[in-house]
Amino acid sequence: MTVTASRPVQIAPSILSADWTRLAEQVADAEAANVDWITLDVMDGNFVPPITFGAQMASAVRSLTELPIEAHLMVEHPEDHIGDFIAAGVNCVTIHIESTRHPHRLLQQIAAAGVEAGVTLNPGTPLTEIDAVVPICDRIQIMSVNPGWGGQQFIPESLQRIAQARRMLDACGREQAHVAVDGGVNESTIAAIVEAGANWLVAGSAVFNDRESIADAVARLRRALTNAQP
Ligand code: DX5
Repeated sequence: MTVTASRPVQIAPSILSADWTRLAEQVADAEAANVDWITLDVMDGNFVPPITFGAQMASAVRSLTELPIEAHLMVEHPEDHIGDFIAAGVNCVTIHIESTRHPHRLLQQIAAAGVEAGVTLNPGTPLTEIDAVVPICDRIQIMSVNPGWGGQQFIPESLQRIAQARRMLDACGREQAHVAVDGGVNESTIAAIVEAGANWLVAGSAVFNDRESIADAVARLRRALTNAQP
């Protein structure tokens, strides 16, 4: 049986694992490999220990590609930063439900700017925490690792959370909204992740690594979807 989502499966490489000394080339190679999005893992050293980059990086990547760009804000007080990322030209902003007292207002602001509004949760946060904002979000992103680093192991309990997120969106008529997954997406996990109900996949180290070209890495992920057996 070929594993396919009832929605097209979109692959979004995270530049967190890219070679930043040749980012333009890496982004161009990802685009040539027919990925669907580029994900920016924004980290502030407070919400998560590492620090990565801010809206200037979003502007730089915006100048490198026509692909849609998602900004995943692993930051405290995302309300202070959303405007800069929208001005930088990103196409989706994903906020952590744990990072703000006003998630509903922030998601409304993101949507009002014509940008996709995503909400995400750490593995330890019950999905009930997002109940009130599911009706206004364009995607629920399940963190399948504890955020902050690439190359971590997929947390298997995430599969039930993926299925629950899909049910939550469908229950409020958001059939067109995505269930995204971020963390440990690779050729050995991708089929189960899609089968559980996800159709939007962040992949960092599975795409950007020193084992193979980006084209080969993306092809490997796509093959893993078509070759999956029940
Ligand atoms: C937070 C980051 C990572 C990254 C994916 O930790 O959001 O999850 O995008 O990294 P991989 O695909 O290498 O697990």
